[in-house]
Amino acid sequence: MNTQKDWKIKMRVLVTGGAGYIGSHTCVELLNVGHEVFVVDNLCNGHEAALERVRGITNRELQFTNADIRDANALDNIFNTFKPEAVIHFAGLKAVGESVANPLKYYEVNVGGSISLLSAMSKAECNNIVFSSSATVYGKPKYLPYDEEHPTNPVNPYGRTKLMIENIIHDWTKVDLKRKGTVLRYFNPVGAHESGQIGEEPIGIPNNLMPYIAQVADGRREHLNIFGNDYETADGTGARDYIHVIDLALAHIGTLNQNKLDRFEVLNIGAGKSTTVLELVSKFEEISGVPIKSKYLPRRDGDLAAFWANPSKASEKMSWKPERNIKKICEDTWRWHKLNSTGYEGE
Ligand code: NAD
Ligand code: WQD
Repeated sequence: MNTQKDWKIKMRVLVTGGAGYIGSHTCVELLNVGHEVFVVDNLCNGHEAALERVRGITNRELQFTNADIRDANALDNIFNTFKPEAVIHFAGLKAVGESVANPLKYYEVNVGGSISLLSAMSKAECNNIVFSSSATVYGKPKYLPYDEEHPTNPVNPYGRTKLMIENIIHDWTKVDLKRKGTVLRYFNPVGAHESGQIGEEPIGIPNNLMPYIAQVADGRREHLNIFGNDYETADGTGARDYIHVIDLALAHIGTLNQNKLDRFEVLNIGAGKSTTVLELVSKFEEISGVPIKSKYLPRRDGDLAAFWANPSKASEKMSWKPERNIKKICEDTWRWHKLNSTGYEGE
């Protein structure tokens, strides 16, 4: 547990994958509360323009190196010069379908990259890591909502990389009492910063529901395919726990503040409630004023009917709780899309 002497208000924080969707939003909140930020990102799915926008939103500087976290020399240089006191580790690949088609790439990047990062941290005696895990580690629900004690049984290579990294971090903390590892299991991050300056910009056809809905609304997609309407949910469509990306970003701030976290801690970060596809579509139509044309297709392989978080441990341990509802999520998503019809392209 953190004691008063261990806790510093302003820290030097290395953010891996900080040019990505969740990382860029977390950088805004880190800078807003006065932390110093260094981003390392190989831009395979991130945007340097997003970092420029982060500087604009916060009117604060941040440093950036375009590098792969598997590049030990690049990491050593960062640790030797910036001397981070904590690392928030977002860098990794996250497409479930791609992980099934190309598992070795996911093990190499996600697991290999995390080992490379932890090796550099050990060498530099940087003892605090916060890791982006996923509710995917739970697999088929034995009960709902998922709490952190729920059995973990991921059913795809992506989820298996996340669980492996959780265990690697746990073992890493056991070596030295000064080491701290906090695992955040994200549910379904959605939304955008309320400025409309940064948001989610998936490359190619969106895999996820929210960006797809938004691209139908802004005319980039002709209609939404709804995968299955025969699930045992309120209206037969899939139900998920959608968490606003700013609420998610603030959870990371909580891990760096004085809190009651143990040296190794696993926390669910979700809204604690579920929303069906049709409910989300209906709210988005209300907010955007645009009808979302939809067609029903058969269920998507691997999809679960419904799941959502029990987020009470995060609330108890670090006084964090989700504040932004589905209406706010849709408003902020729509604003990002209206102001950036081609995302960060052309920047
Ligand atoms: P993202 O793809 O927008 O961000 C990941 C960033 O990491 C990108 O900017 C990418 O360029 C960078 N990156 C990837 N591999 C790298 C490497 N080897 N070296 C350096 N940089 C690298 O994804 P996101 O949605 O912001 O997710 C961030 C993290 O949260 C990921 O680890 C993801 O698995 C996890 N997560 C995401 C979701 C979600 O639905 N978005 C849910 C649960 C967990
Ligand atoms: C949500 C619901 C679909 C798209 C995924 C990953 C998970 C995590 C979050 C990384 C489901 C339905 C979707 C569409 C649809 N990512 N849907 N039409 O599958 O809960 O989670 O993203 O960690 O690992 O698995 O999110 O947004 O893909 O789907 O009907 O075009 O929307 O069936 O019910 P999911 P999603």
